[in-house]
Amino acid sequence: MSRQRWAAASNSTSQKATSPAAAATASYPKARNKLPGLAVPKNTTPTTKPPLTFPGQLAQSTVRGYATQKQATAYIHEKKPFDVERVRHDFPILKRVINGKPLAYLDSAATTQKPRDVIDELTRFYNEYNANVHRGVYKISEEATAAYEEARAKIARLINANSPNEIIFVRGTTEAINLVAQSWGRTNVGLGDGIILTEMEHHSNIVPWQLLAKERGAHLKYVGITDDGHLVHEDFRQHLESGSIKLVTMTHVSNVLGTINPVREYIREAHKQGCPVLVDAAQSVPHMPVDVQDLDCDFLAFSGHKMCGPTGIGILYAKKSILQAMPPYHGGGEMIREVHLYESAWKDPPYKFEAGTTNIAGAIGLGKAVDYVSGLGLRNIQEHEQELTEYAHDRLGKVKGIRIYGPENPRTKSGVISFNMGDVHAHDMATLLDEDGIAVRSGHHCAQPLMERLGVSSTTRASVYVYNTEDEIDRLTQSLERAGRIFKL
Ligand SMILES: Cc1ncc(COP(=O)(O)O)c(C=O)c1O
Repeated sequence: MSRQRWAAASNSTSQKATSPAAAATASYPKARNKLPGLAVPKNTTPTTKPPLTFPGQLAQSTVRGYATQKQATAYIHEKKPFDVERVRHDFPILKRVINGKPLAYLDSAATTQKPRDVIDELTRFYNEYNANVHRGVYKISEEATAAYEEARAKIARLINANSPNEIIFVRGTTEAINLVAQSWGRTNVGLGDGIILTEMEHHSNIVPWQLLAKERGAHLKYVGITDDGHLVHEDFRQHLESGSIKLVTMTHVSNVLGTINPVREYIREAHKQGCPVLVDAAQSVPHMPVDVQDLDCDFLAFSGHKMCGPTGIGILYAKKSILQAMPPYHGGGEMIREVHLYESAWKDPPYKFEAGTTNIAGAIGLGKAVDYVSGLGLRNIQEHEQELTEYAHDRLGKVKGIRIYGPENPRTKSGVISFNMGDVHAHDMATLLDEDGIAVRSGHHCAQPLMERLGVSSTTRASVYVYNTEDEIDRLTQSLERAGRIFKL
């Protein structure tokens, strides 16, 4: 069967045969229904969104149609009172004492800590309704299915997707990007075509495209960065106008520099040339309001573990029309409409891309994490981080021998602060900080091309989230000053 015909089969919602073999068995479901004692299992895939209520003015409303979803997304993004000390109580791990000092966790760009709500929901799932989804007709399987699909709906509302069907559960940002490269890329990118990336990408938004480019004979074109960590727009414009560009893929927020890229404007320009855009939102969705309809991005990827959710779960968002045209990424159970000896037909998205037993507990835990960050308000989270970042730039900027990379104006960046002190190796610095109970990241941060651009092999990185305080920034400052004395800077 040609690729087009497979795609046609996957998009079909009717029982019409798409091949001779399918024609021969098209009446199969009906015939099976007639066998004594055997019934076609009830379809447990919910066709309507489960209700979700919100405090305040939306408390009574059931979130269904698009208009109400807009309201829900507005609720998630609105400003509310924010009390960091109360927030800290929600995170059991913050009670830990490391080397005799309270843990100061400043590595949330790598992974965030988990609030009690998320931890409890994971336990509740395994204690009370652990079952496979979309398969069982029994009570706990239906409960698991409803919770899994409700999580999908919550994520759709968080990023204002048009429909939960545009939300695919994957393992994380890395898998989401690989899915696009392998499924969309192999279908749409050919010999001599170009893909635009930037020099500040994480390896997971570089390597999948290198693999694809090698296989298809395509080439990668990089947008450079200025010395203060912004994209060189002229590079982008030139690459885009060079013709044959099939995709632009870029990070929304740099995991090393904290730069917030103006992706909305880049998307507008790319679309003028008919070029789709993938946004790596691993460092933006957890930290600020992100609205995929406003951005008009074609793909968006992020990870649950960077926004209070469990590890091993993440999201690929893509526009419905694009998902419908894409071939499956993995084959297996649950992604099929029917299977015969030599050919098969697929379910509609998102199920076409969720082969096998997915990370059910992870998805449900991520749903709880979405409740949690929505409850705090994405605008509040952004503002809290902004204040801490300004404070950190001010305090750290005064430490002798320090060099902070990326935008000088903390107002134009997120809560990621990468630095070096003299020629002290980043690992030595992180080890010293650990002695004071401060957890930071050191190394190349999976961004070796960026390290090359900066002319360093590694940096130390402090990154903040909802639970961090000015007091922790003070402790970091004092610890760096201590390091400066030890290393005689
Ligand atoms: C910007 C960016 N993209 C992609 C990733 C990869 O995310 P994951 O390891 O969750 O797949 C990260 C992780 O740090 C990141 O910061």
